[in-house]
Amino acid sequence: MTIKPVRKAIFPVAGLGTRFLPATKAMPKEMLTVVDKPLIQYAVEEALEAGIEQLIFVTGRGKGALEDHFDVSFELETTMRARGKSLAVIETIRQQPGSPVYVRQQEPLGLGHAVWCAREIVGDEPFAVLLPDELMVGSPNFLKQMVDAYQQVGGNVIGALEVAPEETNKYGIISPGQRDGALTEVTALVEKPAAGSAPSNLMIPGRYILQPEVMQILDAKETGAGGEIQLTDAMAKLIGRQPFHGFTFNGERFDCGDKTGFIMANLALALARDDIGPAVRAFAQQRLG
Ligand code: UTP
Repeated sequence: MTIKPVRKAIFPVAGLGTRFLPATKAMPKEMLTVVDKPLIQYAVEEALEAGIEQLIFVTGRGKGALEDHFDVSFELETTMRARGKSLAVIETIRQQPGSPVYVRQQEPLGLGHAVWCAREIVGDEPFAVLLPDELMVGSPNFLKQMVDAYQQVGGNVIGALEVAPEETNKYGIISPGQRDGALTEVTALVEKPAAGSAPSNLMIPGRYILQPEVMQILDAKETGAGGEIQLTDAMAKLIGRQPFHGFTFNGERFDCGDKTGFIMANLALALARDDIGPAVRAFAQQRLG
């Protein structure tokens, strides 16, 4: 079996972000800021550090700020230069000409549909999917750890994280086979199983390495849980045809699509900073008594 390298990453960013209204009425959810960086930038940095060469954003109406964030900001840069200010903090964001690639989803029909919208750009190659509203903190980062594992086993490698049993009805859940360190064989997948019926408490977080054949399955546009075209259902059809593993990340996950997770991420990352950490810690301690 030859294991093709993972060079491309899809960032589905066409969702409506209704749980964060009114913040997300005119601003993409993925531009919400944790300390001083928008969520999308954390995900892009994670992908680039993991060796990804081509960034593919699946966008929709009202997502222009995402495109501007990775572009030249002529007025800002000219003014900063004239004032003798360092551009270092924004130069790292700017991508090469021709990158990222943007495709449009038109209608938010589900994560599976968003991924399928990138099929022409992905072509015949394995690819990663990163959901930017899930902020992953660890070293090496989550995708890098997954790419390293993928280079051993090939096929499909998806994140696998333990959640409390009463939370399994919110996520895609893995039916586990043999475990070998951080890798767990996947024998079945189910999206949002009814309470009490989950095959395990291993949920799929927003990190995936998938083979291009999943696009042919998504071609059928079958709907699943919530009437959405589910990526989980399409991935489940690859089990038995290709190697399929879950990978348990050695690090922390913050669900920033949810208000509580978003505040926790801000607090955790602020406390870890040398510049603002001491002041935030003193304030939190005083507040909490
Ligand atoms: P979420 O399930 O968090 O959906 O999608 P959402 O619509 O953005 O948020 P809420 O639930 O209304 O608050 C997970 C990721 O998949 C993308 C979202 O942009 C987010 O990054 N997504 C989801 C799409 O790109 N298209 C879709 O049709 C659905």
